[in-house]
Amino acid sequence: METGTLGEVVPMPTPSMEDYLERIYLLMSEKGYARVSDIAEHLGVHPSSVTKMVQKLDREEYLVYEKYRGLMLTKKGQKVGKRLVERHAMLESFLRLIGVDEADVYEDVEGIEHHLSSNTLDCMTQFVEFFEDKPELMNQFREFREQERASEE
Ligand code: CO
Repeated sequence: METGTLGEVVPMPTPSMEDYLERIYLLMSEKGYARVSDIAEHLGVHPSSVTKMVQKLDREEYLVYEKYRGLMLTKKGQKVGKRLVERHAMLESFLRLIGVDEADVYEDVEGIEHHLSSNTLDCMTQFVEFFEDKPELMNQFREFREQERASEE
């Protein structure tokens, strides 16, 4: 991942649209298709909400939806979907690096991913890249954290 690619300023869809696009992009890359029922199951929503959102994403040219043929991401939808998935992965790496418990990583990313400015995303990306390149420094930080935790007990 190149520095700055996540924070690059392109018009992004609304938070809930982002959740759908992220999930659709993942389903498409895992299975080659994304069914309304699969999307509904993954996002924990009613299929009728999925249909509504998919129609909205179609109107905004992120995908093409035909009731009986399913949906296909457009070029724009693929580009944005990929960035959303990369952003999610970077945020997971960031939380792991700073020592967040594995059990909290996914939910916490889902909670913050739509609310960070592009500058903040760039800073976090650089932080991840810097520390992933310097395991010695990372270990120093880990030791520091363990001491802190031990002294709190
Ligand atoms: Co996400």
